[in-house]
Amino acid sequence: MKIFLDTANLESIKKFNDMGLLDGITTNPSLMSKEGGNPKNAMEEITKIIQGDVSLEVVSTEYSGMMEEGKRLREYGDNVVVKVPMTPDGLKACKSFSSQGIPVNVTLIFSANQALLAAKSGAKYVSPFIGRLDDIGQDGMNLIKEIKEIFSNYTFNTQILVASVRHPLHVIDAAKIGADVVTLPPGVLDKMLQHPLTKIGLDNFLADWEKLKQKNPDTKI
Ligand code: G3P
Repeated sequence: MKIFLDTANLESIKKFNDMGLLDGITTNPSLMSKEGGNPKNAMEEITKIIQGDVSLEVVSTEYSGMMEEGKRLREYGDNVVVKVPMTPDGLKACKSFSSQGIPVNVTLIFSANQALLAAKSGAKYVSPFIGRLDDIGQDGMNLIKEIKEIFSNYTFNTQILVASVRHPLHVIDAAKIGADVVTLPPGVLDKMLQHPLTKIGLDNFLADWEKLKQKNPDTKI
Protein backbone atom coordinates (compact mmCIF):
# COMPACT_ATOMS: atom_id res chain seq x y z
CA MET A 1 0.00 0.00 0.00
CA LYS A 2 1.36 3.41 -0.96
CA ILE A 3 1.48 6.19 1.60
CA PHE A 4 0.76 9.76 0.56
CA LEU A 5 0.84 12.77 2.89
CA ASP A 6 -2.34 14.85 2.85
CA THR A 7 -0.92 18.32 3.41
CA ALA A 8 0.60 21.42 1.86
CA ASN A 9 2.89 21.90 4.86
CA LEU A 10 6.46 21.92 3.55
CA GLU A 11 8.07 21.16 6.91
CA SER A 12 6.01 17.97 7.32
CA ILE A 13 6.57 16.97 3.71
CA LYS A 14 10.36 17.34 4.10
CA LYS A 15 10.39 15.53 7.46
CA PHE A 16 8.57 12.40 6.26
CA ASN A 17 10.15 12.45 2.82
CA ASP A 18 13.63 12.43 4.44
CA MET A 19 12.53 9.29 6.30
CA GLY A 20 11.75 7.68 2.94
CA LEU A 21 8.11 7.14 3.85
CA LEU A 22 6.33 9.13 1.17
CA ASP A 23 5.09 7.80 -2.16
CA GLY A 24 3.23 11.00 -2.99
CA ILE A 25 1.26 14.03 -1.77
CA THR A 26 -2.35 15.10 -1.93
CA THR A 27 -3.46 18.69 -1.47
CA ASN A 28 -6.76 20.52 -1.73
CA PRO A 29 -7.80 24.19 -1.56
CA SER A 30 -8.52 23.93 2.19
CA LEU A 31 -5.07 22.48 2.94
CA MET A 32 -3.45 25.23 0.82
CA SER A 33 -5.48 27.87 2.63
CA LYS A 34 -4.49 26.44 6.04
CA GLU A 35 -0.81 27.10 5.25
CA GLY A 36 -1.64 30.71 4.43
CA GLY A 37 1.31 31.40 2.09
CA ASN A 38 1.39 31.83 -1.67
CA PRO A 39 -0.02 28.59 -3.14
CA LYS A 40 2.15 29.01 -6.25
CA ASN A 41 5.32 28.74 -4.12
CA ALA A 42 3.92 25.75 -2.22
CA MET A 43 3.05 23.91 -5.44
CA GLU A 44 6.49 24.65 -6.90
CA GLU A 45 8.26 23.42 -3.78
CA ILE A 46 6.15 20.29 -3.25
CA THR A 47 6.52 19.11 -6.84
CA LYS A 48 10.31 19.61 -6.55
CA ILE A 49 10.69 17.78 -3.23
CA ILE A 50 8.49 14.79 -4.07
CA GLN A 51 9.35 12.28 -6.81
CA GLY A 52 5.97 10.53 -6.71
CA ASP A 53 2.51 11.76 -7.64
CA VAL A 54 1.40 15.15 -6.33
CA SER A 55 -2.34 15.85 -6.55
CA LEU A 56 -3.10 19.54 -7.15
CA GLU A 57 -6.76 20.51 -7.27
CA VAL A 58 -8.67 22.71 -9.72
CA VAL A 59 -11.12 25.27 -8.34
CA SER A 60 -13.19 25.87 -11.48
CA THR A 61 -16.53 24.14 -11.44
CA GLU A 62 -17.12 24.03 -15.18
CA TYR A 63 -15.37 21.91 -17.79
CA SER A 64 -13.43 24.50 -19.78
CA GLY A 65 -12.12 26.20 -16.64
CA MET A 66 -11.03 22.83 -15.22
CA MET A 67 -9.19 22.05 -18.47
CA GLU A 68 -7.35 25.39 -18.39
CA GLU A 69 -6.46 25.10 -14.71
CA GLY A 70 -5.40 21.47 -15.05
CA LYS A 71 -3.03 22.32 -17.88
CA ARG A 72 -1.53 25.16 -15.82
CA LEU A 73 -1.16 22.87 -12.80
CA ARG A 74 0.70 20.33 -14.95
CA GLU A 75 3.33 23.02 -15.65
CA TYR A 76 4.57 22.53 -12.08
CA GLY A 77 5.87 19.08 -12.98
CA ASP A 78 5.32 15.79 -14.76
CA ASN A 79 4.42 14.26 -11.40
CA VAL A 80 1.31 16.46 -11.07
CA VAL A 81 -1.99 14.60 -10.90
CA VAL A 82 -4.91 16.90 -11.69
CA LYS A 83 -7.51 16.65 -8.95
CA VAL A 84 -11.10 17.29 -10.02
CA PRO A 85 -14.33 17.09 -8.03
CA MET A 86 -16.84 14.27 -8.54
CA THR A 87 -19.28 16.29 -10.65
CA PRO A 88 -20.52 15.91 -14.24
CA ASP A 89 -18.00 18.55 -15.42
CA GLY A 90 -15.30 16.93 -13.30
CA LEU A 91 -15.87 13.57 -14.97
CA LYS A 92 -15.88 15.18 -18.41
CA ALA A 93 -12.54 16.84 -17.60
CA CYS A 94 -11.29 13.52 -16.21
CA LYS A 95 -12.10 11.78 -19.49
CA SER A 96 -10.37 14.50 -21.54
CA PHE A 97 -7.24 14.65 -19.38
CA SER A 98 -6.98 10.85 -19.22
CA SER A 99 -7.26 10.49 -22.99
CA GLN A 100 -4.33 12.93 -23.26
CA GLY A 101 -2.29 10.80 -20.86
CA ILE A 102 -2.68 13.28 -17.98
CA PRO A 103 -3.38 11.49 -14.68
CA VAL A 104 -6.47 12.51 -12.72
CA ASN A 105 -7.57 12.09 -9.11
CA VAL A 106 -11.35 12.31 -8.72
CA THR A 107 -12.05 13.67 -5.25
CA LEU A 108 -15.07 13.99 -2.93
CA ILE A 109 -16.23 10.41 -3.58
CA PHE A 110 -18.88 9.26 -1.11
CA SER A 111 -20.48 6.29 -2.87
CA ALA A 112 -19.46 3.18 -4.80
CA ASN A 113 -21.44 4.39 -7.82
CA GLN A 114 -19.42 7.62 -7.89
CA ALA A 115 -16.19 5.57 -7.75
CA LEU A 116 -17.43 3.35 -10.60
CA LEU A 117 -18.22 6.37 -12.80
CA ALA A 118 -14.86 7.98 -12.05
CA ALA A 119 -13.06 4.73 -12.95
CA LYS A 120 -15.03 4.53 -16.21
CA SER A 121 -13.93 8.12 -16.93
CA GLY A 122 -10.30 7.00 -16.78
CA ALA A 123 -9.31 8.29 -13.34
CA LYS A 124 -5.89 7.19 -12.08
CA TYR A 125 -7.15 7.61 -8.51
CA VAL A 126 -10.55 7.76 -6.83
CA SER A 127 -10.59 9.46 -3.44
CA PRO A 128 -13.34 8.20 -1.12
CA PHE A 129 -13.55 10.39 2.02
CA ILE A 130 -14.02 7.88 4.81
CA GLY A 131 -13.73 10.18 7.86
CA ARG A 132 -16.48 12.46 6.61
CA LEU A 133 -18.79 9.45 6.16
CA ASP A 134 -17.98 8.29 9.70
CA ASP A 135 -18.80 11.84 10.85
CA ILE A 136 -22.39 11.50 9.60
CA GLY A 137 -22.88 8.03 11.10
CA GLN A 138 -22.07 5.97 7.99
CA ASP A 139 -19.32 3.36 7.82
CA GLY A 140 -16.58 4.95 5.70
CA MET A 141 -14.49 1.77 5.58
CA ASN A 142 -17.43 -0.17 4.20
CA LEU A 143 -17.27 2.09 1.15
CA ILE A 144 -13.64 1.06 0.61
CA LYS A 145 -14.68 -2.62 0.77
CA GLU A 146 -17.44 -2.03 -1.78
CA ILE A 147 -15.18 -0.16 -4.21
CA LYS A 148 -12.47 -2.82 -3.85
CA GLU A 149 -14.96 -5.58 -4.62
CA ILE A 150 -16.38 -3.75 -7.64
CA PHE A 151 -12.97 -2.86 -9.10
CA SER A 152 -11.77 -6.45 -8.68
CA ASN A 153 -14.59 -7.63 -10.99
CA TYR A 154 -13.22 -5.59 -13.89
CA THR A 155 -9.96 -4.41 -15.43
CA PHE A 156 -9.87 -0.78 -14.35
CA ASN A 157 -6.44 0.71 -13.82
CA THR A 158 -7.95 3.05 -11.25
CA GLN A 159 -6.39 3.01 -7.79
CA ILE A 160 -8.34 3.40 -4.56
CA LEU A 161 -6.87 6.34 -2.63
CA VAL A 162 -8.35 6.34 0.87
CA ALA A 163 -8.82 9.96 1.96
CA SER A 164 -10.17 11.82 4.99
CA VAL A 165 -8.24 9.43 7.22
CA ARG A 166 -8.54 10.39 10.88
CA HIS A 167 -6.58 7.81 12.92
CA PRO A 168 -4.15 4.87 12.65
CA LEU A 169 -6.93 2.24 12.82
CA HIS A 170 -8.27 3.57 9.53
CA VAL A 171 -4.87 2.77 8.00
CA ILE A 172 -4.82 -0.80 9.30
CA ASP A 173 -8.35 -1.42 8.02
CA ALA A 174 -7.54 0.09 4.61
CA ALA A 175 -4.44 -2.12 4.34
CA LYS A 176 -6.44 -5.25 5.31
CA ILE A 177 -8.93 -4.49 2.54
CA GLY A 178 -6.05 -3.98 0.09
CA ALA A 179 -6.59 -0.30 -0.75
CA ASP A 180 -3.89 0.94 -3.13
CA VAL A 181 -3.09 4.19 -1.32
CA VAL A 182 -3.84 5.98 1.93
CA THR A 183 -3.33 9.71 2.19
CA LEU A 184 -2.53 10.72 5.74
CA PRO A 185 -2.55 13.94 7.71
CA PRO A 186 0.95 14.34 9.26
CA GLY A 187 -0.49 13.73 12.75
CA VAL A 188 -1.76 10.27 11.79
CA LEU A 189 1.60 9.27 10.30
CA ASP A 190 3.31 10.49 13.49
CA LYS A 191 1.01 8.31 15.59
CA MET A 192 1.68 5.26 13.38
CA LEU A 193 5.39 5.52 14.19
CA GLN A 194 4.90 5.37 17.91
CA HIS A 195 4.21 2.72 20.52
CA PRO A 196 4.71 3.27 24.28
CA LEU A 197 6.48 -0.10 24.64
CA THR A 198 9.02 0.95 21.98
CA LYS A 199 9.91 4.02 24.04
CA ILE A 200 10.04 2.11 27.33
CA GLY A 201 12.09 -0.67 25.74
CA LEU A 202 14.62 1.74 24.25
CA ASP A 203 14.97 3.70 27.51
CA ASN A 204 15.69 0.41 29.33
CA PHE A 205 18.24 -0.74 26.75
CA LEU A 206 20.10 2.56 27.02
CA ALA A 207 20.02 2.57 30.85
CA ASP A 208 21.40 -1.00 30.95
CA TRP A 209 24.12 -0.07 28.48
CA GLU A 210 25.14 2.88 30.67
CA LYS A 211 25.53 0.46 33.63
CA LEU A 212 27.71 -1.83 31.55
CA LYS A 213 29.83 1.09 30.37
CA GLN A 214 30.57 2.12 33.93
CA LYS A 215 32.21 -1.27 34.50
CA ASN A 216 33.90 -1.25 31.05
CA PRO A 217 34.69 2.43 30.32
CA ASP A 218 36.50 1.68 27.01
CA THR A 219 33.54 -0.19 25.53
CA LYS A 220 32.19 1.28 22.29
CA ILE A 221 29.83 -0.01 19.66
O1 G3P B 1 -7.77 14.18 1.19
C1 G3P B 1 -9.00 14.68 1.62
C2 G3P B 1 -8.90 15.17 2.98
O2 G3P B 1 -8.04 16.26 3.06
C3 G3P B 1 -10.18 15.50 3.64
O3 G3P B 1 -9.95 15.26 4.97
O4 G3P B 1 -10.27 15.46 7.36
O5 G3P B 1 -11.00 17.30 5.83
O6 G3P B 1 -12.24 15.17 5.89
P1 G3P B 1 -10.94 15.83 6.09
